[in-house]
Amino acid sequence: MNESPVVDIGKRAVGYAAVDDFVQDGTCIGLGTGTTVYWAIERVAQRVAAGERIAAVATSEQTASLCRRWNIPLVGLLEREMPVAIDGADEVASDWALIKGGGGALFREKAVALVAERFVVVVTPPKLVSVLGVFPLPVEIVPFAEPYVVREISRWNPNVEITRRGGDMPFVSDNGNWILDCHFGRIDEPGTLDLALRAIHGVVATGIFSSIADVVMVGDENGEVRALPRI
Ligand code: 5RP
Repeated sequence: MNESPVVDIGKRAVGYAAVDDFVQDGTCIGLGTGTTVYWAIERVAQRVAAGERIAAVATSEQTASLCRRWNIPLVGLLEREMPVAIDGADEVASDWALIKGGGGALFREKAVALVAERFVVVVTPPKLVSVLGVFPLPVEIVPFAEPYVVREISRWNPNVEITRRGGDMPFVSDNGNWILDCHFGRIDEPGTLDLALRAIHGVVATGIFSSIADVVMVGDENGEVRALPRI
C-alpha cells in the first residue's frame, strides 16, 4: 500500500485519534499494517514533520516503506521501550479477542503487540462481532510443512476449510512463509485454538490475538470515535 488509500472517514478518524490520545513526543511506538493504521502512520508523520521525536517499530515492509517515505525513524524490536503500539484488526469480539493477519503481517504484528506496554486496536464498526469466526483465520506456516500442517489441522477439526492464500501463486509473508486461511466457523475458545494450532510443527503464528488488546477504538462513518467496552 504505497499509494494513499481512498479516504475512509471512520478509518482516518480512529487512526488519528489513537495517535492523538496515546502517542507522546520522544517515544518509540509500534505501527501495525493495513488501511486503518495507515491513517495513524500519517498522523505520526505530521507530528514528526512538526519537529516531534517519535520513532517506530514497523510490523511489515509495507509499513516500513511508509515510515521511510514520511521520515519516521525506524528502530528494531526491543531497541527502545515501546509504551504503545497501534494496529488494525479483521475481527474484534466483544471480549476483545481479535483475528488479525488479513494483510499477512500477523507474525510481526503479534511480536510488536506483545512487546508494547499498551496495545491499541483501531477499527471501524464492520469489524465488530460477538464471537470470532466469520473472517477466515490466517495461519502463517513454513512452506515445506504445508501438507503436514493441513493434515494435522484437518484431523483436529474435520469441518475446517483451508485455503492457501494466493493459491498457485502463494502469498509470501515478510518472513518468507505462506499463509493458510482457515474457516473454522464460530471460534468459542480462541486461546485454546491458538495454542492447538501453534503446537503443530510448521505453524509459525496464528492471527488469533487473545488477551493482548488493551484498548479498542472504533471510528464510524461520521468521524465519531468511541472506546469499545470489554464484555
Ligand atoms: C494485517 C492486519 C490488519 O491489521 C488487518 O488486516 C486490518 O486491516 P485493515 O485496517 O486494512 O482492514 O492484521 O496483517
